[in-house]
Amino acid sequence: MIDLHCHILPGLDDGAQNLEEAVEMAGIAERDGIEKIVATPHFFRNNFVYEGLGIIEEKCRELSRALEAKNIKVEILGGAEVHISHNLIVEIRKNRSYLVLNRSSYMFVEFPSDHVFSGIKELFFELMSEGIMPIIAHPERNSVFVRNPSFLYELVRMGALTQANSGSFSGIYGREAEEAVFSFLELNLIHFIGSDGHNARSLAPRLSEAVERAGMVIGEDRARALVKDNPRAVLEDKEIPYLPKPVNSDEIQKKIKIKIPFLK
Ligand SMILES: [Fe+2]
Repeated sequence: MIDLHCHILPGLDDGAQNLEEAVEMAGIAERDGIEKIVATPHFFRNNFVYEGLGIIEEKCRELSRALEAKNIKVEILGGAEVHISHNLIVEIRKNRSYLVLNRSSYMFVEFPSDHVFSGIKELFFELMSEGIMPIIAHPERNSVFVRNPSFLYELVRMGALTQANSGSFSGIYGREAEEAVFSFLELNLIHFIGSDGHNARSLAPRLSEAVERAGMVIGEDRARALVKDNPRAVLEDKEIPYLPKPVNSDEIQKKIKIKIPFLK
């Protein structure tokens, strides 16, 4: 499996505290069946400011050397989780290679948990015009998308992609996010599952359990595509192979009741 979203680089954000914890996280990932991790430190959140973006590559190399020394076979690749901001396009033009995932055309976009920036459709359109494919990070943790899945549907219809957190499938972010992630999955609004791992304890980089749970809704093959085929295409900068037709919740709400396993 490939974990596209992980705060494994030490000392950059609220992820791994030090190199030892980063190595421990990689060990957990390896045992879970993860072969590649894209390191995605937060960018443009007010409290995380870096002097030079080249530090991401330096930290990736440092961690890769430490993993080699411990014989942990997990490849570390560079990326970022980019907080939405009005001057994003300017930043993209300046620092594109650091903001995208593994120097591809794909970029994680993070929203605050309680609102979605009002000019989002225009911004996504501008990003796409710059050749950037936005991936919305963990929409199930954003109350606007949770309350209004048809808004997420509209963004996906525009061409945006989404990544769900593995922990959402087992309820670690609460019931609301858990219900939302299964609903989004049924509505064909999820394209990747990533760990969003932050440490070696409660938010460790694991994907297998989430894939198993997702498989009970969309079938094993499709669930595996969310952690294998689709993320591989991102790393190779190709179109993702599993791109199901999104469903607008507003159109089906009156006709069927979405059934979510594990929730009674
Ligand atoms: Fe994250």
